[in-house]
Parts: sequence; C-alpha cells; structure tokens
Amino acid sequence: MERKVKPSDSPLSFEMFGIRFKNPVWTASGCFSYGLEVAENLYDISQLGAVVVKGLSFKPRQGNPPQRIAETPCGMLNSIGLQNPGVEYFVREILPKLREYDTVIIANVFGEDREEYVKVTEHLDRADGVSALELNVSCPNVKKGGIAFGSDPETLYSLVKSVKQATGKPVLVKLSPNVTNILDTATASVEGGADGLVLINTLLGMAIDVEKEQPIIGMKTGGLSGPAILPVAVRMVYQVYEKYGADVPIIGVGGISDHRDGLQHILAGAVALQIGTANFYDPYAPLKVIKGLEDHLKRKGYSHFLELVGKAHKLKIN
Ligand code: FUM
Repeated sequence: MERKVKPSDSPLSFEMFGIRFKNPVWTASGCFSYGLEVAENLYDISQLGAVVVKGLSFKPRQGNPPQRIAETPCGMLNSIGLQNPGVEYFVREILPKLREYDTVIIANVFGEDREEYVKVTEHLDRADGVSALELNVSCPNVKKGGIAFGSDPETLYSLVKSVKQATGKPVLVKLSPNVTNILDTATASVEGGADGLVLINTLLGMAIDVEKEQPIIGMKTGGLSGPAILPVAVRMVYQVYEKYGADVPIIGVGGISDHRDGLQHILAGAVALQIGTANFYDPYAPLKVIKGLEDHLKRKGYSHFLELVGKAHKLKIN
C-alpha cells in the first residue's frame, strides 16, 4: 500500500494528501487569527508548515458576550463563540493577502447545522489557495453545531460523509476530548471518509471569581487549553495511533509550548503539530518549535522526523 505520509527533501519536510509541507509545525485555529497580524508585524509566516485559520461559518458571527477569556493554572479558558467575518469575506478579502506567503493554508469549517457546514465547504472548495479543510465538530462554546456534531458518532459519521461529498479537498476532522471514548468519534470520522484527524480541541471547564461569587466566563463555561491539557492530548493521539497506525494521519494539538511537548505528540503518533495557546504569550513559539525539532534530530542522529512518529508504541510490556 502507498504510504500516506512521505518524507520530502529536508529532515522536517514531508508530503501528505499530495501537498508538500515544509515542516510539521502548524498554527492552531483560533490562536493565530488569519496569520496576517503576525506576518505584517513580527515574522515571515512562510516559515510555518501551515496556518489553520479561525473557524469560518457561512454568515458572519459576532461571537459570545464577554468575558471570553480567563487565565487558569497552566492554561486558559476561552469562550469566543466562533466570532468570524463569514466565509465569503474570508475568501474575498483575507485569503488573497494570506496567499502571498509561501505556506499551506487550511480552513477550519464550522456550521450551526449540516446545511451550513456543506455551504461553507462548497465555498472553500472553489477557493484557490485553500489546500485542505479542518472540520470543527468540537467547539464547546456554541449552542448549535460544533461539539453537538462531534460527540455522537452516528451524527458525526453522516456529517463527515456530507462534507466529503461537497469537496475534493482533503478533510481533517478536529475531534473533541469531551467524550467517553475518543476511538468512537475517531472511528466514525474515518468511516465517514476523513482524510486525517486532528486531536484535540479544548476540554470543557469553568473558573469562578470568588469575590463576585460567579463564573468568570460570560457563558459560564469555556474550553481549557494550554500546558494543562498536554497529557490528555498525548494520550488521545496515542490511543488513536494504536488503532490506525500510519493508515490515518494524526495532527497533534493540545498543550504544545516547546519542541519537547511536540515530540511527545510525534512519539505518540502525530505526523504534524499545531501550536495554539502558546502563541498568545509567545508568538514566536512555532518558530522555536521548528528550531528545537531540527536540533533534536541532529543531536539524536535521525535523518528525518518521520522516523520518530509513533515510536513510543514500540515498548512491549510483559
Ligand atoms: O469559542 C470558540 O470560538 C472556540 C472554538 C473552538 O474551540 O473550536
């Protein structure tokens, strides 16, 4: 069988879905906006393996009322409510600017119902410059759509199928950790036709202001991200890789602050990494992860990072 992920011309570059990624370090949806603030003010985003843009719905969304963010021990809660300008505006006004950079653009797709998911997908299918789609079935901060589609395997299976029928582009499904068994939703996605899985979105959490004696987040709950969730994400990547091995590419996201966190995801089975919350306190974090991975490969004598994918599974316990 042909390998789904193949090394390319440098220790960090690879091909997947017929797309060349210059490295496995991508930015996570919602944590890097549309990439342009960083590109115009900080560094050349062509250095990144890919940019995954903030979730796009068909109509613009105002998002949730404040407070939308709260700092927590080793992490943060967010409840943005998928604020975005709508897919048409994105394609018309933002994508042309983003396309000036030599990086892979992946669009995160959101809908309140199946029809909206399909409409957004069809629109992005026609958009030159968007290489792949990431299906958001895991946002915990919206009343309709998001996690409502991603927690029931049957609903998820049929949504993924509908979305796949609406596009010829690769579809990655971003899964929620807020389920009893991640293998149920991973399997439903794969059987529905997902080309790859993105593990994990945020964990549902809450923080309470002890002076005001009420939840800090306006919607009461929010999605927990940051270093606190690294072990949960690594465990879920490991579990899904254990079932599918190299047959289903896994993109690891959750708690990655530096290259050693990223290596945990890779050793568990991820072929690419998304850097999320770390961007908020260090927008250079993705570049540091790239450099850290390069140095690690040299130091350990590996010629390509793909040699490390899933390697933590090799240990046999008697
Ligand atoms: O609230 C939000 O916009 C979060 C989105 C997500 O977690 O996918």
